[in-house]
Amino acid sequence: MADATRVQDPALRGRIMSAEEAAGLIPTGANVGMSGFTGAGYPKEVPVALARRIMAAHERGDPFRIGVWTGASTAPELDGALAKVDGIEMRLPYQSDPTCRERINAGQMDYIDIHLSHVAQFVWFGFLGHLDVAVVEVAAVLDGGRLVPSSSVGNNKTWLDQADKVILEVNRRQSLALEGMHDIYYGTRLPPHRQPIPLVHPSDRIGTPYLMCDPAKIVAIVETDQPDRNTRFTPPDETSRMIAGHVIEFLGHEVKKGRLPNTLLPLQSGVGNVANAVFAGLKDSPFENLTAYTEVLQDGMLDLVDSGKLTFASATALSLSHEAAARFEKNIEEFRQKIVLRPQEISNHPEIIRRLGIIAMNGMIEADIYGNVNSTHVMGSSIMNGIGGSGDFARNAFLSFFMTPSVAKGGTISCIVPMVSHVDHTEHDVQVVVTEQGLADLRGLAPRQRARVVIENCAHPHFRPALQDYFERAVRGAPGRHTPHLLDEALSWHARYLRHGTM
Ligand code: COA
Repeated sequence: MADATRVQDPALRGRIMSAEEAAGLIPTGANVGMSGFTGAGYPKEVPVALARRIMAAHERGDPFRIGVWTGASTAPELDGALAKVDGIEMRLPYQSDPTCRERINAGQMDYIDIHLSHVAQFVWFGFLGHLDVAVVEVAAVLDGGRLVPSSSVGNNKTWLDQADKVILEVNRRQSLALEGMHDIYYGTRLPPHRQPIPLVHPSDRIGTPYLMCDPAKIVAIVETDQPDRNTRFTPPDETSRMIAGHVIEFLGHEVKKGRLPNTLLPLQSGVGNVANAVFAGLKDSPFENLTAYTEVLQDGMLDLVDSGKLTFASATALSLSHEAAARFEKNIEEFRQKIVLRPQEISNHPEIIRRLGIIAMNGMIEADIYGNVNSTHVMGSSIMNGIGGSGDFARNAFLSFFMTPSVAKGGTISCIVPMVSHVDHTEHDVQVVVTEQGLADLRGLAPRQRARVVIENCAHPHFRPALQDYFERAVRGAPGRHTPHLLDEALSWHARYLRHGTM
């Protein structure tokens, strides 16, 4: 029975169908733009039905694979289901699914790892090919092609604009009170006609609360009733708390020196344990009236909003645990005054990040002694997740932190290495490196000064002497003294790990 409050346009109610029927409208070889960002707002039934269809095709010996474009990572019902049946030819722009990762690293699935702010423009100009179908979760379909977005916005505006056909999943589990929380900016002009984006404070609203879609393109509406991924929240561990402690102490010094106001500047943070620890630490910090201009709003940030420390948060997705999601829903009227969700080309826009003077805090796999950072690859070749928005923020931030425990895999790997095995953020974009051992402020330091402070402050004591030895021998023996490296040895730590299981 069609839900008239969720699908208000009577003409569109006739397009309500089952997930199987909707999946039947997606042909092999199609590029499909799906909603979803960090486990929030992804379609929950059509991808699973499509995976069944793909499996049946493969059993008959018929090839069936599609291109999957999203906002960022999704969930087992989307990436997992489609990857398990070998249904993805090409994936972009970010994923964190174990089966996807396995297939990408086995060379069975192509993956294009793109800055999240670039995706919309790449699609508008056709750099990625044609977008055939959009599958987008919404909270409700109003009249005139207005859609109430769900718990993430991501690239949905672009998918709805650019796709030939649109399939909507209307999820009853998403609160109708989400209406009004979003700000969808439709003012973007293409070069050479671009105008400044009129956003000067994280709380500014510059668009409309609705996604717009030409009703003629809507070929199917599927009603669903399932929660977001709602990943379990793990309280920060000791290492994360130590990393967070260094960051917060450093911010305090910057305030004392008059380089930051006591309200700090708008905060951006990646997801995960360290990010949550930073927000837990900020709760007890002396800073007041904080704001956030970020991608993902996690439990830690919601707590800060609740406590009044954070007066406003702008993001593109809500990535909450079950408990936090329940709390969010209960107090949604209040949160709507303090939280806005935007398209990811705006949440991650370099122009705005530079204008607002963001404090960016992101995780990494490894950093080298000169401050180059690898966020994406293990031992040079295997993708972990992707660059996500870290590049959008790091390069354009007022202050950019990269954080990691000093060792990984039970202490067999040093996360501070002579030379990173893959570069995502060059030494020019990395300002502060932090591990539980300490913090290296690289601003204003020349390469050899950077190396000394990274090794001294951030390396684990077990690996510190070997790093010092490498650096000193490089200073003495390298052909150039500016950024001294021993090329035969620079990646030998990684090679040793691959051969012997320890660096
Ligand atoms: N070498 C090999 N493996 C390493 C490693 C290293 N130097 N450092 C970490 N790892 C492994 C960990 O052992 C862990 O593996 P497991 O899942 O098998 O246990 C995994 O990488 C994740 O590390 P963890 O310490 O749990 O950190 P995390 O959850 O904070 O993730 C990144 C770290 C870098 C993977 C994550 O921050 C990321 O994907 N960043 C890129 C995108 C980004 O920055 N997004 C935020 C901006 S929006």
